[in-house]
Amino acid sequence: AENGYELWLRYQPIEDASLLDSYRQKHIALFVPVSSDTLKAAKKELQLGLRGLLNYSSQEIASWNELKEGTLIAGTPRSLPGLKDTDVYRKLDRLTEEGYLIASSHIEKKAVTIIAARTDIGVLYGVFRYLQLMQTHQSLAHLDIADSPKLKYRMLNHWDNLNGTVERGYAGYSLWNWERLPRYKDPRYTDYARANASIGINGIVLNNVNAEAKSLRTDWLVKASGLADVFRPYGIKIYLTAKFSAPKEIGGLDTANPKDERVRQWWKDKVKEIYGLIPDFGGFLVKANSEGQPGPQDYGCSHAEGANLLGEALEPYGGIVFWRAFVYQNERHVDRVVTGYNEFKPLDGQFGKNVFVQPKNGPIDFQPREPFHPLFGSMPDTPLAMEFQITQENLGHAGHLVYLGTLFEETLQSDTYANGKGTTVSKVLQNYQHTHGMSALAGVPNVGTDLNWTGHLFGQANWYAFGRLSWNPDMHATDIAAEWVKMTFSTKQEVLEPILRIMSMSREAYVNYTMPLGLNHIMNYDTHNGPEPWHNDPVWTAFDYHKVTKDSIGVDRTMQGSGATRQYHSPVFDKFDDLNTCPESYLLWFHRLPWDYKLKSGKTLWNGLVDHYYKGVEEVRQMQRLWDTLKGKIDNERFRHVATLLKYQEQEAIWWRDGCLLFFQQYSGRPIPSQYEQPAHS
Ligand code: GCU
Repeated sequence: AENGYELWLRYQPIEDASLLDSYRQKHIALFVPVSSDTLKAAKKELQLGLRGLLNYSSQEIASWNELKEGTLIAGTPRSLPGLKDTDVYRKLDRLTEEGYLIASSHIEKKAVTIIAARTDIGVLYGVFRYLQLMQTHQSLAHLDIADSPKLKYRMLNHWDNLNGTVERGYAGYSLWNWERLPRYKDPRYTDYARANASIGINGIVLNNVNAEAKSLRTDWLVKASGLADVFRPYGIKIYLTAKFSAPKEIGGLDTANPKDERVRQWWKDKVKEIYGLIPDFGGFLVKANSEGQPGPQDYGCSHAEGANLLGEALEPYGGIVFWRAFVYQNERHVDRVVTGYNEFKPLDGQFGKNVFVQPKNGPIDFQPREPFHPLFGSMPDTPLAMEFQITQENLGHAGHLVYLGTLFEETLQSDTYANGKGTTVSKVLQNYQHTHGMSALAGVPNVGTDLNWTGHLFGQANWYAFGRLSWNPDMHATDIAAEWVKMTFSTKQEVLEPILRIMSMSREAYVNYTMPLGLNHIMNYDTHNGPEPWHNDPVWTAFDYHKVTKDSIGVDRTMQGSGATRQYHSPVFDKFDDLNTCPESYLLWFHRLPWDYKLKSGKTLWNGLVDHYYKGVEEVRQMQRLWDTLKGKIDNERFRHVATLLKYQEQEAIWWRDGCLLFFQQYSGRPIPSQYEQPAHS
């Protein structure tokens, strides 16, 4: 049965006879000497893929003398010394450490294919790419591919608690079975590593940013070392979150003050212990002085002083600190949107060489649509990592089909103008001024113990898209989607085309039926699923985000208001600040407007808002109709799984639409135009 466990690594038999034949011709023999666990993993994957795709076992050869027409060769100059005499050898200079080449070549007049890299991990990445070529039915003739990752640290940040639950996880429980680690290594860990390596992920933070100090205790470190052992051959380093108060909680000290010599020594000793157990440990991810977490500000120290405390301890071992910039004050009179920038921008240049500052993609909190975080382009002397959320905390959990590739692309391609036109967020991540030499992208994954990993099958596409973008943040979301659909479902047009249409419209549909025109944070206060624009309690309410009254709606963040627009470089500042140029998709994010404000369509704001909500529901219905065309064209299991969830999504979309419109209508006092079915008062 098709349960989705294999993800995009399904390696289904090639049906087209002539294609199959042409592929088989390229694998008459395999020449892949293995001298490391990584090369073993690469060879194993290659054999698995070839068996599945071609139902054919290639002959294995062990030396250059045995080369024959149609040999596939894979390795590095170390594992394959003869590589030095081939025409691909000099091309290796074009690659970074983790890059690879895939080239058609001739050796002694015999046509061969070579997968080559400078390092073993490059070979593994090359193998995955090579298999992908066949999975997506591309020609293997005249290959000349050279590819290296554009970002160095390609991270998943698990929000897994040590008790097995996952914060904001909707696909079951944590994959890590702490009780049985390190002795029992669930085979699933290996499959997880394979999937991640196939998209270039090279770092996994094992535990929640809302950290437990316990994770740094010796017994837990020993457990973590078991996962590190599984992941190592796949080029994946493990990281842990560090709770700032750990010296107090597990270290027996009476303070965690970064200026206290005992605290500094404690972190140094702790890090030394970690590297004793996990020699390639990646480093720490830290949430400090945010949402109640302890941090350096508890001792009158800055975020930079806190981050550098850990950075200095890790530095001798090559470890890295990811210091999150997700901070906001729990004070209603302070605009939440401006606080991250205000706290971090003044610290530019004060962070140690091995410290990243890690803002979220937008300045609020993983909303369905946010403008890019203004720290991007504003801290040229600090390596900035960006945190995306792959788990759909505010995008329908694992119940809604929402392809996030388009959201990711929208942020990455936003132009910050920090260094003139074309300084996109992607370029900022790629170290646009070459000031520090570090680059990273982080994603909070959507995986768990569910059989298909992500709950909704289409959640797999979001994991896939994130990985591809962490390798190359300038890829297009539609190209990534096409790869994924071909590998996950089929290369046939009649399957590919409707699924791509569904995916490309899905995120905008979600925005339409939940938070159109720049609305945000009006979801259920606790679960973050479903509407609750009426949430109102004395501390922090949905009203702070939409500020609805009978006259107006939206938040004035222009220079007349909270001034959030000022945090962007011109001309982005001018564009957002000026009502006439502000994109309507961010309208109520930056502007507070009367109900009869005229939109570009000529309609009033109220009628435009109604249109968006109704359109969103209609788009879900359109997605259902497109999906229905696949009946009989894909396997029934996956067809029904998605069809059933789309039905659920339609109901939820109606809930959102009616909930929000009935609520806002109490203020606007205007009717739902009669062309629409009227909301159900239930
Ligand atoms: C959101 C989320 C929390 C999480 C926080 C964070 O607010 O709801 O569960 O801890 O982000 O990113 O730190």
